[in-house]
Amino acid sequence: MNILQELRGRLHSVLASKVEDADRFAAMLTPSQNPEFGDYQANCAMPLSKQLGKPPKDVAAELIAELNISDLCEQPEIAGPGFINFRVKTDFLQEQIDTVSQSERLGVEPVSEKQRIVIDYSAPNVAKPMHVGHLRSTVIGNALYRILSFLGHDVTSDNHIGDWGTQFGMILYGYRNFVDQAAYEKDAVAELSRLYRLVNRLGEYHQTVEELPGLEWKLSEAEQAVNDAEATVEQDDKRGKKQLKKLRGELESIRASVKKAEALVADVEQDAELKKLADAHPEIHTDARKETAKLHAGDPENRQLWDEFLPACLEAMNVVYRRLDINFDLTLGESYYQPQLASVVEELKSKGLAEESQGAICVFLPEERAPFIVQKQDGAFTYATTDLATIRYRVEELKADTILYVVDARQGDHFQMLFKTARKWGYDDVALQHVSFGTVMGKDGKPFKTRAGDIVGLGDLLDEAISRALGIVAANDDSKPNGAELDEAARARIAEIVGLGGIKYADLHHNRESDYIFDWDKMLAMNGDTATYMQYAYARVCGIFRKAGVERKTIRSSDQAIVLNHDAERALAFQLLRFDEALTATAQEYRPNFLTNYLFETANTFSTFYDKCPVASEENEATRLSRLKLCETTARILEQGLSLLGIKTSERM
Ligand code: ARG
Repeated sequence: MNILQELRGRLHSVLASKVEDADRFAAMLTPSQNPEFGDYQANCAMPLSKQLGKPPKDVAAELIAELNISDLCEQPEIAGPGFINFRVKTDFLQEQIDTVSQSERLGVEPVSEKQRIVIDYSAPNVAKPMHVGHLRSTVIGNALYRILSFLGHDVTSDNHIGDWGTQFGMILYGYRNFVDQAAYEKDAVAELSRLYRLVNRLGEYHQTVEELPGLEWKLSEAEQAVNDAEATVEQDDKRGKKQLKKLRGELESIRASVKKAEALVADVEQDAELKKLADAHPEIHTDARKETAKLHAGDPENRQLWDEFLPACLEAMNVVYRRLDINFDLTLGESYYQPQLASVVEELKSKGLAEESQGAICVFLPEERAPFIVQKQDGAFTYATTDLATIRYRVEELKADTILYVVDARQGDHFQMLFKTARKWGYDDVALQHVSFGTVMGKDGKPFKTRAGDIVGLGDLLDEAISRALGIVAANDDSKPNGAELDEAARARIAEIVGLGGIKYADLHHNRESDYIFDWDKMLAMNGDTATYMQYAYARVCGIFRKAGVERKTIRSSDQAIVLNHDAERALAFQLLRFDEALTATAQEYRPNFLTNYLFETANTFSTFYDKCPVASEENEATRLSRLKLCETTARILEQGLSLLGIKTSERM
């Protein structure tokens, strides 16, 4: 049972007879921040007092009088200006936790309104460097997939891979001009990645060489402007000083761009080999674009190469997915929608939503600075056109009620315009949600890159996590009071669980909108809010059963009911009963960190309980069994909770 939801429901029925927006006021009943104030607290009496024209304390008293909760709670108390504090009856907790201890679903009831949800996540650009941002999308998206499915929704995961973009033009060009056939045969993806980077670099070089004189001119202008302002601005001229500060800022940013451009050019020019290639391919940028255009126009040779490259690229991605234990129901990449794009643009035009502007076909949206371009001057369709076709497919063919896009926050504008356009187009029933997330930063404060910056690099990243985890697992095992317990194979198996769990958890436990710093030591720490801590907590609980010499299933089927005599027992039971609450909150806002918080608190609450209440050594048989049952339920909740985040556990570590 979700106690929070139950209490809100009961409060709601009292509120409904008094005010119109009962929902809003019922939602003001929340878990207490401080256990001194009971388990839950409602602060709706204060805002209600205005509407009802009575002092808050009277409102609170009236609500309490009308509330029918004596089966669940002690008599509620009024505190301060009119807070209502609820304390759940220990008898009730006892009954509930006993039921949960036997329940497969750990007290989590399937949702009453099942939705069809499509989750668009991971979506790397094939053959182009995959960055940790894609890993973040993968990890968050997969956790949401697992959680929403567990709650009883009908969820489809769809990997909207970028398999049709301009990177293919670069690869085609690179393949034709620079391929190392032996390397290609040995590891096609690594070679294609190299070709992509090479073509990209040469193209950038030529573009930068072209732009540099303009940039340098801008620099001298900006220097002049600063000099002029410095000469004229007076001591007490506040506005002038502000202006000068602004000019200096601009100068600095232009100076930085010039520096960056010069470095990029010098890098190529100092490398004789590279410089030779650059000179031999002066039009590489345009030529690569032409290859993309040819592919899109159906050129058979380019199409054949694309057909050859794609399976290898997909397989390289799948290697990473398999290691992460991630499966997709669908992988309908951008290329899948190509045959449908012309019809999308036609439909938008015929509905009067899209119009021509400077040769491009655009949707103009109120309050948006830029138009949403669905076809470029050269006739090419865009990322936007594909996403519109994708919405049509997901609504019409997949019958989606909700579509979630787990994508980098930097694409926020794109999704805002996409959703607005879809609404105008007539897809106004489906819920469209950008589940956006921040950037993973390196310790240097710049976006974090894997060493090679590509998909192979991502595999290296996982390897590094596992090898670091092995060090931690081994050190921990070696320091056990009665000597090491794990053989090499066990250590390796556990290191994999700890390493991958650590990487996933790091992505999940931050508020997804924030940027965070990728930090190995923090990520794998034994103490603190980490997967490692939680995995060890789980193993510790399992150790209790071994120490007590009982099997988990024997504990679970025991007739002994759970009794909550000690405060720490009650606190643990209450925490365990809030699993449903945590999952519901996670699903409501698509925030896996609500679940990680819950699990972290659960591990901590357990730890306090275990400090205060002996289990295996408890002499009273009834108390011992009751506590073992609490431990067993804790173990299952930790295991289930972590598994919903895609994180594995081991009974021994
Ligand atoms: N491939 C895109 C990128 O790497 C992400 C695609 C996200 N999904 C979507 N339907 N636009 O930036």
